[in-house]
Amino acid sequence: MKKVCTFIFLFLFSKISLESNNAGSFKLQTGKDVPFFNFSLVPQSSPLKLSKIICFVQCLRNEFCSFVVFKNGICSLHTEYALTRLVNNPDLSVVYKKEFIINHCSNTPCMNGATCVNKLDEYVCLCDLGYFGKNCDKNINNYYCETDYYRLNETDVCKPCMSGFRTFNNYTFNCYKRNYTQRDYESANSYCQGLNSFLWTPKTQTERNVFASNRAWVNSKITYVGEPFVWPDGLRVYEMGDGEPNNGGGNNYLLYENALKYHENYFHPVHSTEPLTTICQQLN
Ligand SMILES: *[C@@H]1O[C@H](CO)[C@@H](O)[C@H](O)[C@H]1NC(C)=O
Ligand SMILES: *[C@@H]1O[C@H](CO)[C@@H](O)[C@H](O)[C@H]1NC(C)=O
Ligand SMILES: *[C@@H]1O[C@H](CO)[C@@H](O)[C@H](O)[C@H]1NC(C)=O
Ligand SMILES: *[C@@H]1O[C@H](CO)[C@@H](O)[C@H](O)[C@H]1NC(C)=O
Repeated sequence: MKKVCTFIFLFLFSKISLESNNAGSFKLQTGKDVPFFNFSLVPQSSPLKLSKIICFVQCLRNEFCSFVVFKNGICSLHTEYALTRLVNNPDLSVVYKKEFIINHCSNTPCMNGATCVNKLDEYVCLCDLGYFGKNCDKNINNYYCETDYYRLNETDVCKPCMSGFRTFNNYTFNCYKRNYTQRDYESANSYCQGLNSFLWTPKTQTERNVFASNRAWVNSKITYVGEPFVWPDGLRVYEMGDGEPNNGGGNNYLLYENALKYHENYFHPVHSTEPLTTICQQLN
């Protein structure tokens, strides 16, 4: 069978985007449909009537948008979550997958074994164990503080952790308190707040490695199916477990896996009532 693929190239110049001259493309996924508009990235009580081009531009500019469904003049944006929920529908051509034309990772800016993630206007490096910085060029061993002393950043002096908190595993950029009493997500969160601290937010592999063997809550929760997991500052959570998020599998309309746990180097969405270890961190 011959596959017919249509490419629609969008070149965004300053008229459309003030911040960017970059461009992306949308590749038609022939004969695919998404059965549910409620897996949309922007949940809409009344769906958006937009031109196709504006619809695509919105997806390009939204880092969490992986594809667009454009059906009967209605635009919906979706995360990669819904990509696993595509169904065959030979009569329809409504699903467009986003691709960037420019690859900001092509000159391998990320150092020391880091993974490069290409975005619309820039790249993000996911540093390997022991490295940090925009390009993962800095080695954590060069910023060592003595046990239970921490520093805010690489120019800061070492100072003692706040009372009840300590350092683990020679990681010097935060202090922690771990409590093995099994708590649900909300109780873990309030436990840390009660200690004037924050639920664990291990954005980097080095931070995750501090508590590598624990099954513990991390600071990210969602409120609707298909919503992307982000850290409290809005940054995307990378390095999810295989096939995650999947909301427990199946085509569930109801949100089941709404909170994030960490275990063995990856994040796994689970129901927020699961009892888990609490790790609090001093600095957000
Ligand atoms: C999801 O979408 C379906 C189909 O449009 C609708 O019947 C259902 O009520 C929606 N569920 C929620 C929770 O919004
Ligand atoms: C590092 O922390 C110090 C102390 O709070 C602050 O004055 C400085 O601006 C910070 N430097 C960077 C590069 O963030
Ligand atoms: C922490 O660093 C110190 C000094 O570099 C080293 O002696 C010690 O073995 C390290 N401890 C761990 C647990 O890595
Ligand atoms: C953990 O939390 C429980 C309940 O709040 C408390 O009784 C216990 O002392 C805490 N353990 C540590 C090591 O702080």
